[in-house]
Amino acid sequence: MTTSNKAKMIVDKSFRIAEVDNRIYGSFIEHMGRAVYGGIYEPEHPSADSQGYRNDVKDLIKELNVPIIRYPGGNFVSGYNWEDGVGPVEERPKRMELAWRTIEPNYIGTNEFAQWAKDLGTEVMMAVNLGTRGIDAARNLLEYCNHPSGTYWSDLRRKHGYEQPHKIKTWCLGNEMDGPWQIGHKTAEEYGRLALETAKAMRQVDPDIELVTCGSSSSQMATFPEWEASTLEHTYEAVDYISLHQYYGNRDNDSANFLARTMDMDHFIHTVSSTCDYIMAKKRSKKKMNLSFDEWNVWYHSNDQDSKLDPWTIAPPQLEDVYNLEDALLVGSMLITFLRHADRVKMACLAQLVNVIAPIMTENGGRAWKQTIFYPYLHASKFGRGVSLMPVVDSPKYDSKDFTDVPYLDSAIVFNEENEELTIFAVNRNLESSLILECDVRSFTGYRLIEHIVLEHDDLKAVNTAGEEKVKPHSQGKSESKDGWVTASLTKASWNVIRLSKIK
Ligand code: AHR
Repeated sequence: MTTSNKAKMIVDKSFRIAEVDNRIYGSFIEHMGRAVYGGIYEPEHPSADSQGYRNDVKDLIKELNVPIIRYPGGNFVSGYNWEDGVGPVEERPKRMELAWRTIEPNYIGTNEFAQWAKDLGTEVMMAVNLGTRGIDAARNLLEYCNHPSGTYWSDLRRKHGYEQPHKIKTWCLGNEMDGPWQIGHKTAEEYGRLALETAKAMRQVDPDIELVTCGSSSSQMATFPEWEASTLEHTYEAVDYISLHQYYGNRDNDSANFLARTMDMDHFIHTVSSTCDYIMAKKRSKKKMNLSFDEWNVWYHSNDQDSKLDPWTIAPPQLEDVYNLEDALLVGSMLITFLRHADRVKMACLAQLVNVIAPIMTENGGRAWKQTIFYPYLHASKFGRGVSLMPVVDSPKYDSKDFTDVPYLDSAIVFNEENEELTIFAVNRNLESSLILECDVRSFTGYRLIEHIVLEHDDLKAVNTAGEEKVKPHSQGKSESKDGWVTASLTKASWNVIRLSKIK
């Protein structure tokens, strides 16, 4: 453990990790809780558009510039009959939804969601049900969505009022099929075979799609990483991505340990990448598998409250975590981790987007507001597009309950060549004192500091509510640039966005 409060960093144009795939700023909307009903859709709300979608929520999503949204689940998808959600709304069945023990009214389904996403300018990442269903339902849904016309399912879509195909490119082959809680949970062998055969059939319907095979539900699963190795034995050549999911919590209120959790995430990404490469070598394949981190966030605040909810109601307030400052710092660190793995992580979905473990919260019939985690997500989506550069960092470190040598400074760099902008994202994990960052940016001749955004608060547990936004960023960060060096003071427990631009 070191006690110095100085960190050094070298940023060089030539230390390129990879071009950032903007889809790492994706999100997720599942049919559960108030994500759909009361979240994106509420016809009685004063801000609702002619279709019943909340404009206040749409505006917040637009601000985040979300490039892709995973839908319709999640655990929900493993018991979902997609046919229930298409055609005349008044004829759609209400179903017992077994994953979350609610009633699903099916007011919103595939067509409505695809249209809503299109209006927002975001892509859909569609998941198929490989829990209770399989190849047939998956290929029919794909034909319904993507085939232009002249076949049973594509003509049915047209009859339902959607003349043009939705052209959904990215498809998940089920959800968390390694999890014993999953409806239709499978062994690696069972899933590997089913995923392969489903992939083959789906590619016959539409060869232009991209497919995501299910990896482990978290790095803590007993079957990790054997699940990846065994399932990829079957699916390696048939898919384009393998999924990773991870949620963290601070149940024992050990904030230093909580903020170090991205050490685990980093290791998780390394292990999945290595497992993919092992299968690549074993198969003598030329294809490199990419990663889709399609569920990630902090999730624990709402666990107790959820256990008390009555079952079989429509849109109950499930998984409504209220996030504090330290959650926002960890979310920032998770985004930093994706950027540092930009060569491998090509998609990621913050789970979820509205009300359910979400950056955006709403009241039924009332206000919509930004949770603390909205901000690091916003900043990364706004300033984190370009080339991810490898920061060479020398930071003081600490030990926590589960981790050793945790650098106080967690950082990533993005160079946007087109806009001639350089952005340093940095979390100071030190809960007691500021960190002075000295950053060598000499390879960026003619660049100067334009902004230092900071998210901080005296109280790590401060939260935002409908009436009060306690945790919001300011641009009064203390930084200066001189002769190719940036010196910044990163206040204790803070998220920082240090922006440089070429002098024009
Ligand atoms: O995002 C909430 C749930 O977390 C999803 O339904 C499931 O896939 C994961 O376990």
